[in-house]
Amino acid sequence: MDASHIIYAQERPADSAAIEHMNNISFGAARFTRAAFLIRERCAHDLELSLVAWDGDKIVGSVRQTRIVIGQVNALLLGPLVVDVCYKNIGIGRELMCRALMQAQAGGHGLVLLVGDRSYYERFGFKPHTLPLILPAPADPQRILICELKLGTAQRATGRVRPMNSA
Ligand SMILES: CC(C)(COP(=O)(O)OP(=O)(O)OC[C@H]1O[C@@H](n2cnc3c(N)ncnc32)[C@H](O)[C@@H]1OP(=O)(O)O)[C@@H](O)C(=O)NCCC(=O)NCCS
Repeated sequence: MDASHIIYAQERPADSAAIEHMNNISFGAARFTRAAFLIRERCAHDLELSLVAWDGDKIVGSVRQTRIVIGQVNALLLGPLVVDVCYKNIGIGRELMCRALMQAQAGGHGLVLLVGDRSYYERFGFKPHTLPLILPAPADPQRILICELKLGTAQRATGRVRPMNSA
């Protein structure tokens, strides 16, 4: 299978059940205790910055982005990124990532944070963050990755990571 027929679109509220199903299969119940989930559960992700991949009438991939604040710096939290197990390794994850980052940049966002595998995400410009962050649950520092979209943003991004519009 190749991915030439896959269509990418902005996520809609109606897509939520299919996305949750994929996330459940790929991440299981353990996802509910993870630092990134604990931030996301307090703030809806931004549909304008979240994308789905369609094969005909079936959703086969998803990436979400949530507006957060790191200390005093506005940023985005990227994830979950998930691709249907039957559609892996044909470039859907890459396409979702590239489109999500392009939209973040076009929207004037300066920094994207995620918790994930460095070996996958470094190809998109992510690297471990060197400044201390306070997350709502422990996370391996090697998995706390940032992609700086506006020069100078990363060096100010330290402190508590919280959803935007929270105290
Ligand atoms: C990780 C994931 C999103 C990648 O999507 P995908 O569409 O299969 O990936 P792509 O086709 O864009 O890229 C495939 C490449 O990524 C590599 N890759 C996939 N998962 C990887 C991982 N966890 N770490 C390192 N490399 C990985 C593949 O080996 C392949 O490498 P190659 O290009 O050298 O052959 C998908 O495998 C998935 O949904 N995994 C389960 C959920 C998950 O781990 N999400 C990421 C954490 S939020």
